[in-house]
Amino acid sequence: MENKSEKYRQLLKEATSLVSGESDLIANMANLAALVHETMGFWWTGFYIVRQDKDGVEQLVLGPFRGPVACTRIAFGRGVCGTAWQRMETIIVPDVEQFPGHIACSSESRSEIVVPILKDGKVIAVLDIDSRHLNRFDNTDAHHLEALVALLDIETISHLILDEGFWRFQSNKEHLEGVSLLASYFASDIGYSDFGRVLGLLHDKGKEQKSFQQNIRKKSGYKPHIKVEGDSSHAYVGALIAKQIYPNFAPLLAYPIMGHHAGLYDYMDYNEVLKKTIPSDVAETLLDIKLLIPKNVEMKKYDYNHVIRVLFSCLVDADFLDTEAFMNPEQAKYRGEKKSLKDLYPMLEAYLTNLKSKSKSAETVNIIRQKVQQACADASSYEPGFYSLTVPTGGGKTLSSLLWAMKHALKYDKKRIIIAIPYTSIIVQTAAILRDIFGDESVLEHHSNISFDDVKDWNIQQRIKLATENWDYPIIVTTNVQLFESIYSNRPSDCRKLHNICNSVLILDEVQALPIEYLQPIVNSLKSYQRLFKTSILFTTASQPVLKGTYTSLNDPNTKLEGIDSVTEIIPKDFNLHDSLRRVEIHMEKGTTTLEELANELVKHPRVLCIVNTRKTAQDIYSKLPDEGLTIHLSRMMCPKHVGDAIKMVKNELKSDKHPIIRVIATQLIEAGVDIDFPVVYREEAGLDSILQAAGRCNREGKLDMADTFVFSLDKVLPQGYITQTNNARKNMLSRSFDWFSPEAMTEYFNQLYAQVKTFDKVDIRSLLENPRSPQFKTAAEAFRLIDDTAIGVIVNWNNSMDLVARLEKEGPTYNMIKQLNQYTVSIYERDFNKLRKAGLVKEVLEGIYVLEGREQYDEKIGLLIDNHWLNEILIC
Ligand code: SME
Repeated sequence: MENKSEKYRQLLKEATSLVSGESDLIANMANLAALVHETMGFWWTGFYIVRQDKDGVEQLVLGPFRGPVACTRIAFGRGVCGTAWQRMETIIVPDVEQFPGHIACSSESRSEIVVPILKDGKVIAVLDIDSRHLNRFDNTDAHHLEALVALLDIETISHLILDEGFWRFQSNKEHLEGVSLLASYFASDIGYSDFGRVLGLLHDKGKEQKSFQQNIRKKSGYKPHIKVEGDSSHAYVGALIAKQIYPNFAPLLAYPIMGHHAGLYDYMDYNEVLKKTIPSDVAETLLDIKLLIPKNVEMKKYDYNHVIRVLFSCLVDADFLDTEAFMNPEQAKYRGEKKSLKDLYPMLEAYLTNLKSKSKSAETVNIIRQKVQQACADASSYEPGFYSLTVPTGGGKTLSSLLWAMKHALKYDKKRIIIAIPYTSIIVQTAAILRDIFGDESVLEHHSNISFDDVKDWNIQQRIKLATENWDYPIIVTTNVQLFESIYSNRPSDCRKLHNICNSVLILDEVQALPIEYLQPIVNSLKSYQRLFKTSILFTTASQPVLKGTYTSLNDPNTKLEGIDSVTEIIPKDFNLHDSLRRVEIHMEKGTTTLEELANELVKHPRVLCIVNTRKTAQDIYSKLPDEGLTIHLSRMMCPKHVGDAIKMVKNELKSDKHPIIRVIATQLIEAGVDIDFPVVYREEAGLDSILQAAGRCNREGKLDMADTFVFSLDKVLPQGYITQTNNARKNMLSRSFDWFSPEAMTEYFNQLYAQVKTFDKVDIRSLLENPRSPQFKTAAEAFRLIDDTAIGVIVNWNNSMDLVARLEKEGPTYNMIKQLNQYTVSIYERDFNKLRKAGLVKEVLEGIYVLEGREQYDEKIGLLIDNHWLNEILIC
């Protein structure tokens, strides 16, 4: 016998062409019944259609069929047909005599199959087939006949996909309900569950329009020749309906719905769109859902935009997930189960116990670390809120903050722990520790330099890739840029993760590095997430900035920082950690020196680290040092891979006695988080936080009782901007005597620094977003950019970078390829870029991807060469 599937396959092909040119339902039913009947040789093949009788009661009424005469009306729930209608599922009856209530139209019939035909979640007809043989139908018939009735094409389609030769459809009703369920669950965390429900139910109502239905059929290739009549855009329709049903809550519903594809609008465009009318072919919406704003917290001006954005986040994440589950169920599987924080906590406990048993418990530093941990454990039970953890280098800040976060999350049922860090170098280190504790599968590292290829297990790799989209993961390590640019974004893909920041624990590490010119909107967002969205927030650093209370500039009373009302410091004052962990004496005023004098001083030390402010200075000093032992230059004129390899090599050599001489001249790239230890450090004048960071690379492991960090100034002016401001802030403190490591010194330093700045809200987020009547989501998102991306990246010729470029040219760009090439990319100013380009040295291999092919343009020791012209160091976030 010919293979049944193959027979159906041919049948479906014929059926498709048979119905493609005709839109009349009865005509198509008639032809399909005839085709199936003839091809498959059944006894009876036909349709029953749901109609109302004269009393308004719905019944199945006989429609087009082939075979002997049949009964004309079947009630709901009666016979096989009425049961398939009731259950809304295909029913296979192997032996009709065994089916209770079977209606025998013909005594010849022995087995039967009935397939319901749905529109918008309701059965509108059934396909009924009888055979004279027992047990004639199985799942192969069911599967193919379901595909056949789909060809009648009566459903309001939300999504469709060609799946192994068959079209699969998701009805709009299914999608709206699926999204509604997810969005209401997501929004329940912030007390807005019913808003989530409504958003889900309304967001795609516009897909009911005839024009949309035509367009989706045409674009997908399902009916390529169908004519599209009129505008098929749909997001505005749901927004109009939301405004009509809930006029009092219009912005909370209409902004998210209107923007669920294009992104949140500016209010002028939003108002313009709301002038449209609801298309007549969209059915009236009846919703019996009462909406109430949670009353437990007072709404401040700056809260409003975050509430809209988090609701937007709930909607768009739900929309993406429901769509993915239909379109790509294989991929959706990888989102599956994750470990909870409750599962992970014992791993942290075991790790800490193991660490304790290995350490020499009598050593001062270990006693201090235990005390810090205990303070964190104690404070974890305090109410959710803002906390700070001020611990100098060496005090075990990473593990202690994690212990606090974990215990706090368990006590207050917080969903996840998010750690945001300003520098990728520290992220990589922190993520490595976290993976060591919790395993690869529970830690999501999300920043621009991550390469998923580093995760060896393919399944875990898939899960992590997907989790970067929405942060549905127990532990996340990310950058400040990723976090805050998402918080102020208007784009669906960026905002998906926001609802997962709610009701979580957020650790902001190295919090002193938050960009001051954006500090007000950053602080405002944190206040909203803490008060309204139940996120507990911990600021950790050795150099705690001033974020509490209100700061008003003495120079300009309009320059204000409205900080956080209350931040609880976890470390008791009497711990005096800065004193007990002191390993370095800072010599703050070593005086002005020339490059030659400095070089002469450095060569007196066999092992020394010198940190300067600009790439040019690093290169100048380096060129004055004798080429003896290991004399290393480190700056961002070297590509990231080169820098990383060099740091690794220096770290190893410092541990061995092979090289008595190790001298490193670096820009501040070495300062933050790089775990490196020198017996003496020189630091060019800078802000106090930078100097303390530099001192953190000095006698880090406590090999000496006390070591020296010298601060010098060069006989030239510092670059304008941040370096000058921070340096001046520190110099203004010099008239008074401070213990530079003390929290009091840091407070005074930040007060001085705030006096230098002209604004805490450089792009005026306050005007753009904090008037609840006129939020400008799009403009604000475009303005809120923490990294100045005026620099241009060029791929340099180092190691095997040109092989990668050749592959790029051959195979085109892939995500992983671009990640790998980033490792060989140096960012330069536009003017330098133009210079290289003019000289014919730069090749644009693909649009916007530039390569500096010449090997002579990249020095093994100092990196990219732009003929004697050196650039200022750019802080990499
Ligand atoms: N057997 C059906 C009735 C219709 S005829 O088979 C054509 C039933 O039980 O619903």
